[in-house]
Amino acid sequence: MSESKITVVGSLNMDLVVVTDQHPEIGETIIGKDFTTTCGGKGANQAVALKQLGNDVTFIGRVGEDLYGTEIVENFKSRGIKLADETPAENVSTGIACVTVGHKDNSIIIVPGANAHVTPEFLDLHKNEVIHSDYVLTQLEIPIETVDYLATICKENNIPLIVNPAPASALTNNILEACTYITPNRIELEQLKEYHRNIMDYQEKIIVTDGKEGCFYHQEDEVVRIPSFKAEVVDTTGAGDSFNGALVSELSRGKSLEESLKFANATGAASITKFGAQSGMPTREEVLKILEEAEYKK
Ligand code: RIB
Repeated sequence: MSESKITVVGSLNMDLVVVTDQHPEIGETIIGKDFTTTCGGKGANQAVALKQLGNDVTFIGRVGEDLYGTEIVENFKSRGIKLADETPAENVSTGIACVTVGHKDNSIIIVPGANAHVTPEFLDLHKNEVIHSDYVLTQLEIPIETVDYLATICKENNIPLIVNPAPASALTNNILEACTYITPNRIELEQLKEYHRNIMDYQEKIIVTDGKEGCFYHQEDEVVRIPSFKAEVVDTTGAGDSFNGALVSELSRGKSLEESLKFANATGAASITKFGAQSGMPTREEVLKILEEAEYKK
């Protein structure tokens, strides 16, 4: 068990998942194959990834006043993830995500609900959790003002902050300056370039996930690629989240960036072999096995 304390500040969703062979065109109705509800949200998924990998995880986020909220709180309890505040936000629904799982891919629409109530004031109530963390991880399914405030707290207290800019939106200069790493996928990087003409001034902080190609980062104007691992795709939902959780897990253990990214790629590959964002998150032993087997095949 790692001694490091990781705090995730982010979203809690109930995922309403439709499995289908094809995505409908605009105006078209098609018959899907399956439907299920599972706990999700990029923040929650990243917390679960970290917990599965043996980390001590605290979560700052909010549920609404409904059964989805109750289920999400229970899910965290059963996994041993500490939720800083279980009190539901009044008169709002828990965040939901409509997830369409198609052939080897997915698309998602989220309705933030209580996640929009993770305000700077709410974060301030739980500031101590952040201040006593070794690493902090966040995403953009909560208000950007809150991410900005989180960046300020981390900067003032010298705490490494990893920002997963998903879904992509304009960041603040404070976030860009204060964060240790930003982890967009390729699409999100292009979107960030639209918001910030100068984003590549921060290239040494940017780690780009690139699907089955793995990931890459910049080092003194060189692009360093870390290849991925082969995996049978069942459901790619949450693959980016498992990557982010694993990256922070390894960094918190004092591993180098390159070692951490290799581990994160293996975690992402393992996560897509099972259905559901959270049920696919592998344990440390499972990830190490993938790494060992890859080494053996060399
Ligand atoms: O990254 C996958 C997650 O995105 C899903 O669990 C869904 O809730 C959305 O937040």
